[in-house]
Amino acid sequence: MIEQKADVFIPALRFNFLTPFYDWVLRVVMREAAYKQALIQLISLEEGSMILDAGCGTGTLTVMIKKQFPQSEVVGLDGDQEILQIANSKVFLSGDLIQLDHGFVTSMPYRNESFDACVCSLVIHHLTTDNKVKAFQEFYRVLKPGGKLYIVDFFTPHNFIMMAITSITQLFEETYDNFRGKLREFIPNAGFKELEVRQNFWTPMGTVSIITAMKQQSYKE
Ligand SMILES: C[S@@+](CC[C@H](N)C(=O)[O-])C[C@H]1O[C@@H](n2cnc3c(N)ncnc32)[C@H](O)[C@@H]1O
Repeated sequence: MIEQKADVFIPALRFNFLTPFYDWVLRVVMREAAYKQALIQLISLEEGSMILDAGCGTGTLTVMIKKQFPQSEVVGLDGDQEILQIANSKVFLSGDLIQLDHGFVTSMPYRNESFDACVCSLVIHHLTTDNKVKAFQEFYRVLKPGGKLYIVDFFTPHNFIMMAITSITQLFEETYDNFRGKLREFIPNAGFKELEVRQNFWTPMGTVSIITAMKQQSYKE
């Protein structure tokens, strides 16, 4: 098994020199509009909520969330300083007020129970198994009771074409867990309830799914 420290990360397109092309690849090759739009429609929150976009990358989804929930406080977090500069420019151009932080999903710089929702798009497949487990524990820690988790990532193939593609793309240790459906174990093991696979999308790299789960309400007298 490959050792991956908690404070290291695989850049958006695996190599730093490819980061400037990330938005183009996501838009043209990876069909990001399909699942990011669908995700936005699924998020149900009261205005004034606190929302974290963990592993926000260039900030495309972060800005979409803020546009959908203008009265909410949206925070983007990423481990890559270089990609955060792109996100900063995007946020500036959007005219929205969004906090962008540098940090790692395995040890997030936030207090317990800070957020009403945690969104994490195309990040989990960048993490080794150990770090996936830590990341879900962190999502659980920073969510308020009743808080919602929204994961968008590679998942079990949903048709034969995706199955064929996945036979190659699952060869990386980080993507293997995703395509083998291991998130179905990791998410409840971190304490989450009501896991649901909401929608599946084809991409040239394999199935991308939207998965939701919830941190249980605490019932205090
Ligand atoms: C494929 S990009 C996804 C970006 C964005 N969420 C999206 O949907 O377009 C993965 C992002 O996760 C970040 N990342 C990878 N490992 C991380 C970690 N351990 N902590 C925080 N960010 C991480 C990378 O820097 C990159 O920006």
